[in-house]
Amino acid sequence: MDRSLAMDLARVTEAAAVACGRWVGKGDKISADDAATTAMRQVLGTMDIDGTVVIGEGEMDEAPMLYIGEKVGTESGQKVDIAVDPLEGTILCSKGGPGAIATIAMAPGGGFLHAPDMYMDKIIVGPAGHGCINIDDLPSVNLKRIAEAKCCKIEDLTVVLLDRPRHDEAVADIRRAGARIKMISDGDVAPAVATGIIDSGIDMVLGVGGAPEGVLAAAAVKCFGGDMQARLIFTTDEERQRAPKMGITDFDKVYTAEEMATGNVFFAATGVTSGDLLKGVRYFSGGAETHTIVMRSKSRTIRFINTLHYFDHKPCYT
Ligand code: FBP
Repeated sequence: MDRSLAMDLARVTEAAAVACGRWVGKGDKISADDAATTAMRQVLGTMDIDGTVVIGEGEMDEAPMLYIGEKVGTESGQKVDIAVDPLEGTILCSKGGPGAIATIAMAPGGGFLHAPDMYMDKIIVGPAGHGCINIDDLPSVNLKRIAEAKCCKIEDLTVVLLDRPRHDEAVADIRRAGARIKMISDGDVAPAVATGIIDSGIDMVLGVGGAPEGVLAAAAVKCFGGDMQARLIFTTDEERQRAPKMGITDFDKVYTAEEMATGNVFFAATGVTSGDLLKGVRYFSGGAETHTIVMRSKSRTIRFINTLHYFDHKPCYT
């Protein structure tokens, strides 16, 4: 895939972040998500790709835009799979909490796992922890191996988990092992990406979150050469019936990042509210400033792009 498409992806997430950034703290997660989705779709429509949304805002009958199966782009370029979360952390945005992002990933056609909208158990580390994780081991066992690989003490490591009762046992085990814990209320993609950034202070992301978010995280992990294992968590009969229609037949399979995001993968995210990974959108008279990360698996280059947008010159932002 043409590497300049990475810059186009940055434009896509910037537009989504600037649009939903207006809704920060307004207590209306639906309008915030709509604003991000509309802006993302508009800019995606200008990209020279023959894209199909495989991770999106929902099934065609539930989501008017960026639904699974929707074609995006000018249809003049390469066939690609698109995974989007126009606003990852809708509640974070609506409350003005930390770490909401607008995010997108792209792979050659057929490159992404078609993950249904259900839960997924995940364990994610950066490049230094590659080869040290096993989703079936206790967190403390994984932490011991990561500490050895990083030549540090377990006490030096920080683990991020969603603050949910389902993680109580893992939290107790991590505490016994002595590692630091950061519990987040929402938004597990941004910390997954942060594991790949040397000075982010986040060493591991663990626990059960959304499966679509898991595929976006896998795309990022693939780009920075980290490690990830994940397993779908089936909680209803409907999920068990739907999965085979999306190509999933082995319900116990442990997926690696490579299996969820195959080929030359691109990833971009723009901060909506400030967090460990990215600064949020800031507005000034006539414009806005954004902070974006863009990565490609082929080159493993990680770019942070600080952008000033002047609305007079950008009709799509007004
Ligand atoms: P939304 O942006 O769709 O609100 O998702 C936020 C999120 O926190 C994800 O980051 C996470 O994977 C998932 O929801 C966790 O789900 P739950 O809130 O049901 O535990």
